[in-house]
Amino acid sequence: MIDGHLCSNVIASQGDHARLGGVVPELASRAHLQYIVPVIDEALASAGVTKHQINAIAVTIGPGLLGSLIVGVSFAKGLALGLNVPLIGVHHIQAHVLGQFLQKPAPEFPFLCLLVSGGHTQIILVKSPLDMKIIGQTLDDAAGEAFDKAGKLMGLGYPAGPEIDKIAQTGTARYALPHPQLAGFDFSFSGFKTAVRNFLRDGIRENIEFLDQHKADICASIQHHIVAILLETLQKAVRATSITRISVAGGVSANSALRQELTHMGKKHGWDIYLPPPGISTDNAGMVAMAAWFKLQSEAFDDLSVKPMARIPNIN
Ligand code: KG4
Ligand code: ZN
Repeated sequence: MIDGHLCSNVIASQGDHARLGGVVPELASRAHLQYIVPVIDEALASAGVTKHQINAIAVTIGPGLLGSLIVGVSFAKGLALGLNVPLIGVHHIQAHVLGQFLQKPAPEFPFLCLLVSGGHTQIILVKSPLDMKIIGQTLDDAAGEAFDKAGKLMGLGYPAGPEIDKIAQTGTARYALPHPQLAGFDFSFSGFKTAVRNFLRDGIRENIEFLDQHKADICASIQHHIVAILLETLQKAVRATSITRISVAGGVSANSALRQELTHMGKKHGWDIYLPPPGISTDNAGMVAMAAWFKLQSEAFDDLSVKPMARIPNIN
C-alpha cells in the first residue's frame, strides 16, 4: 500500500481444506510457513517496490487459528526488525471493517458494519477508524458456518457458501425453515443446522431423490433464510441507532442474495449501502494493509513483544 492505495493483494489459496471438508489447523499453519516467503516476494514484485522502500510492516495478530497467527506474527517481527521499520498489529475484524475503505465511495463515520464471516457474525458501530463497538453478535455459530454446515449436510464441498450461492441462482426460496426470535441485536444459528438436517431427512424419507431433484430450491431457501435472519436484526439496529450508513464485510458479504436484498432494503428505507467488491469480501491482505494505514496515521505501533492471540475480546 502506498499513500492509502493498494498496490498488490496476493493470496495463497489453500486447496487442501476443500478436499478435507474444513480447515485443518495444523495444515493451515504448515501452509503459512511454506507460502509466506513466496507470497511476500510476489507482492513486492507486483507492486514494483523493493523491501527497502517499506516504511511499516502490518500483520494480523488475531483472532484466528493460533498456529497460522504465530507464523505470520513471527515473520513480521523479523521483517520489521531487519528493515528497522515499525510493526503494526491488526485485529482481523477491524481489518474486515476497514477493508471497505479500499474502494470509493467509502462510508462517512459513524456507520454500522454487518460483519459476516466464517468465524464471526456481528453488528459493529464504527465511530471512527480505530473506535468500534460490537453492538450485537452471534451467540453460537457464525453465518458463514451456517452456510458451510448446511452445505456439508447436502454433500457440498468446503467452503459451501459460494457453492450454495451459485446453485441457488436457479432456484426459488419456497421452503420455510424455523426462525429464531432474539432480543436485542444478537443472532443464533445453532438451531438452524438441526432444522436443515430435519428438513432434509423428512424430504428424503418421502422421496429418495428429494435433494437431487430440488437442490436449487433447497439452496435458495437456506440462503434466503440466513439472509432474512441477518437483515431483520440489522434493521432493528438501524432503527435503534438511527444510523443509516451500512457496510457489509466478511466472506458472506460476497453472497449475491445478501447483496441484492440489502440493496433493495436500502432503496426502500433510504439507507446508504456500502458493499465490498467480491474480491475483498473474503480474507485478504489488502484489508489488513488498509487497517494498518489508519493505524500508521495515528502512529499506533506495536513493539516486538506483541503476541498473536486466538481470541481478542476488544475489537480496537
Ligand atoms: O471472512 P472469510 O473469508 O474468512 C473468515 O474470516 O472466516 O469468510 C469465509 C466464509 C465461509 O464460511 C464461506 O462459506 C463464506 O465466507 N462465503 C460465502 C460466500 N463466499 C464466501 N457465503 C455465502 N455466499 C458466498 N458467496
Ligand atoms: Zn475473515
